[in-house]
Amino acid sequence: MKTLMTIIANDEIADRVFEMELEGALTSDMKTPGQFVHVRIDESTEHVLRRPISIASIDQEASRFTIIYRADGAGTSKLADRRAGENLDILSPLGNGYPLERDRHVLIIGGGIGVPPLYELSKQLNARGVKTTHVLGFNSQKDVFYEDKFSALGETFVSTADGSYGTKGFVTDVIEALDGPFDRFYACGPKVMLRALSETMEIDGYISLEERMGCGFGVCYACVCETTEGEYVKLCTDGPVFRKGEIVL
Ligand code: FES
Repeated sequence: MKTLMTIIANDEIADRVFEMELEGALTSDMKTPGQFVHVRIDESTEHVLRRPISIASIDQEASRFTIIYRADGAGTSKLADRRAGENLDILSPLGNGYPLERDRHVLIIGGGIGVPPLYELSKQLNARGVKTTHVLGFNSQKDVFYEDKFSALGETFVSTADGSYGTKGFVTDVIEALDGPFDRFYACGPKVMLRALSETMEIDGYISLEERMGCGFGVCYACVCETTEGEYVKLCTDGPVFRKGEIVL
């Protein structure tokens, strides 16, 4: 559904990474962690293509939700200039999110701008009594965000590729040293990270893919990817969350 929502805040929380809080009635439709919104940057004809941005946190009581995005292109840089009190044109909620299984202890793994949807996931899992351990990977210290928020929910480890903060290396380097047992993993991040996890994790898991999208609701075929069964699925309507091993990475 398309609607105008009010920007409550739009703050830089890491290097060119912005956290935007929005308010509006459409929040009541947001139930499943891992879903995304499709944002129209502004009303100009310059930025007609919407941007898919995952939902980082939902506050049903306040009718507010939070998105986190990296301002790394012309459109998202324009989004970073939007101010509190302005309206934003949103299509939401889109996609299939993470199934919430009845596990005892799960591992939540995020890479870079793939970290945000895992926060709402961890909140909802903790609310159901599932213990969560988090591993968050970034390129460098200046890119790190939400470590404190994840730490409030469960044990949290950070890795940076350049070693400027936390463990030097990748999320897989941290995971190797962790004591389980874990019943399942949930991940979101770059394809290379998801591939490494799918190949090395022995437990079942869910991954969320970050791909370029067009329409966001199944009509343009810009987001098609291949399953390991040789079929084709659309990330926007069949995903973006899939079971480990379901998609060719
Ligand atoms: Fe258009 Fe998925 S983005 S079909």
